[in-house]
Amino acid sequence: MSKELLPTIHIPVLYEEVLKALNLESGKVIVDGTLGGGGHSLAIARAVAPTGLAIGIDRDPYALDRVDARFAELGEELPFKSYFANYCDFDAALERAGVEKVDGFLLDLGLSSDQLADRSRGFSFDSDGDLDLRFDPTEGEPAYALLNRWRVDKIADVIYRYGEEHASRRIAAAIVARRAEKPIKSARDLAEICRRCNPTPPWNKHRIDPATRTFQALRIAVNDELGSLEIFLKKFIEYLNLGGRVAIISFHSLEDRLVKNAFREAPNLDVITRKPIVATDAEIERNPRSRSAKLRVAEKIAE
Ligand SMILES: C[S@@+](CC[C@H](N)C(=O)[O-])C[C@H]1O[C@@H](n2cnc3c(N)ncnc32)[C@H](O)[C@@H]1O
Repeated sequence: MSKELLPTIHIPVLYEEVLKALNLESGKVIVDGTLGGGGHSLAIARAVAPTGLAIGIDRDPYALDRVDARFAELGEELPFKSYFANYCDFDAALERAGVEKVDGFLLDLGLSSDQLADRSRGFSFDSDGDLDLRFDPTEGEPAYALLNRWRVDKIADVIYRYGEEHASRRIAAAIVARRAEKPIKSARDLAEICRRCNPTPPWNKHRIDPATRTFQALRIAVNDELGSLEIFLKKFIEYLNLGGRVAIISFHSLEDRLVKNAFREAPNLDVITRKPIVATDAEIERNPRSRSAKLRVAEKIAE
């Protein structure tokens, strides 16, 4: 994809905790299914060098270009391969890499600070860029097209189900009223509607913008985020070596519930984290994004 890319500004969350969870050592093969800015993958590649391999996957082509440029600039011999794919199709990437089984999987779900900062993609509430919200801009439809087409009930259901937003019906009605005058186009269009509809003051005590839940809901729907996670959770164990680890960071309860249940229900997984690992106060201070991160880890103990 040709686009001028700024260096990554993404700070990896639960960095030390993830590296420890994956039991990294030279020679291991680890899949990072959500490469993002490459922060976790760089540490993984260094730890498994020289004989191991870090496989980075992302469905955002700009993220891949940025990481490939970043790693090349380092001038280090890194055992690293990157693939443009949905992480739920990791098996196809493994085949291309010539790998049958791996020693670890990492998923750090959701969006990166690089995506949020790119004002042309609609992730940041006050941008005049199109309300796109796709991780992979080559697949599916942008959010604004869906909002201009879906029936009011469908919009309300999506905002309620994936955003757990109590003002979902009011927001959906306002979207439909607004699009009758002028189609929804930018992120700002949607943020303004949400702020007008939401009963909480514009900046409540947790400083959460009233548009947050609606944007999250649409992003989850546009990218079918829970669908990808469900597919991954059904098949990753088969590709793990005995003693291999899986580490998944989620940012909201819908994802966390899927991960928790899948780990608990798998007879050949030992759940390492009875309770999810969360960020320390110091990390939250340094990187507010880490506030809602939950890391769950499990180990394969039988075929
Ligand atoms: C939170 S960031 C990962 C940050 C990364 N761990 C780091 O240290 O820089 C999440 C990344 O996952 C990607 N992503 C989200 N869903 C995906 C999917 N289903 N398949 C592949 N990549 C996905 C996003 O495009 C984004 O770049």
